[in-house]
Amino acid sequence: MEMLKVNLNGIKMAYQRYGKGTPLVLLHGYPLDHTIWEPVVPLLENDFDLILPDLRGFGGSSASRTPYLLNDLADDIASLLDQLKIKKAAIVGHSMGGYIALGFAHSHPHNTLGLGLVASQAAADTPDRKVGRSQMAARVEKNGVGEVADSMPALMTGDTTLQAWLKQLILHQSPAGVAGALRAMAERPDSAPFLPGFDFPIVIVHGLADKIIPIERAHEMQNAVKYGNLIEIEAAGHMPMMESPQKTAEALKMLK
Ligand code: MLT
Repeated sequence: MEMLKVNLNGIKMAYQRYGKGTPLVLLHGYPLDHTIWEPVVPLLENDFDLILPDLRGFGGSSASRTPYLLNDLADDIASLLDQLKIKKAAIVGHSMGGYIALGFAHSHPHNTLGLGLVASQAAADTPDRKVGRSQMAARVEKNGVGEVADSMPALMTGDTTLQAWLKQLILHQSPAGVAGALRAMAERPDSAPFLPGFDFPIVIVHGLADKIIPIERAHEMQNAVKYGNLIEIEAAGHMPMMESPQKTAEALKMLK
């Protein structure tokens, strides 16, 4: 299906929209695009007005030439909702998308109906991780996304068919977008202090076999929020929406 496109904040943003009901924005993780959410679309579209953007620099959305922060990506989502005349939406983010969703909920609380954190965390990067990100960003700009496409899928899932699909998806991403996201992730703040102040429902979905963000990060978030539900999925790694779409969709329905 041809993607919808809007101009906002100096970029072209591509997105898909399906279904009817409560507005629910699904933000993909790094270094992916909106297509990771497609397995849950048929399970959610009778209850939700689903909005699946490609984040700045990924999929069909352009990268910007100047550096940006994850908060700029959260503001892109606020601008998209504004253009769609949606006042309030539930915001769900996968991994890096969750970091952006946390920033959105903090800076746009009046536009947030609820929050979904799938395979994500509130913690910031350690100093070592920041250095690793900046070195990887420089290599991606020099050599392209091949190294990321070769190394990440095996960390994301144990399912070899899915690994092959993810590798192709990563190979389609632009070096500028991948490097921009790496630098933005390294600069992100610790969102843990925001959690106790969130006054809307929060759903946390995490795979017990996640090799990128361990389940402990989900427990920490669950312990810090007022209105939270943690759904642990035994059979899932870092991609619960693709590895266990039924369980992930059931969990996200709590945001209706
Ligand atoms: C993601 O899946 O979005 C990233 O791997 C998260 C990260 O690198 O922190």
